[in-house]
Amino acid sequence: AAVDPALIEAGEKVFKKCKACHQVGEGAKDRAGPQLNGVMGRAAGSVEGFKYSKALMARADEGLVWNEETISAFLANPRGYMKGTKMGFAGLKSEEDQAAIAAYLSSFAD
Ligand code: HEM
Repeated sequence: AAVDPALIEAGEKVFKKCKACHQVGEGAKDRAGPQLNGVMGRAAGSVEGFKYSKALMARADEGLVWNEETISAFLANPRGYMKGTKMGFAGLKSEEDQAAIAAYLSSFAD
């Protein structure tokens, strides 16, 4: 199903909270966090060359895939969802913001 453009636009605003550490879009590079092109629907921990935490790689080995549900749970409480993650982000409590971010990130393919 097509994603609501208004939700994507809302997600672009929420993504300001992520920009200190993440880039997305044309030419996106890894910074403190991995670049996020194509992240939705993809296996966790699969940006080549990015040094993930052991905690994240353990979840990746268990088959974690990023989708609206898993990314929302991670963003709501990164260290609660993934003990030992090196993502130093307090969390995104609003479910609307989580859905908007998921829509926004879905708009960027690899
Ligand atoms: C990992 C999203 C904010 C640093 C990740 C991953 C996602 C993500 C989806 C997993 C990527 C993968 O498996 O390839 C977001 C979003 C944010 C946000 C949507 C804002 C709402 C931040 C901030 C920082 C940060 C502010 C830095 C202070 C990291 C790091 C990792 C990571 C270091 C790797 C985690 C690990 O290896 O344990 N982020 N992030 N993120 N993010 Fe963020």
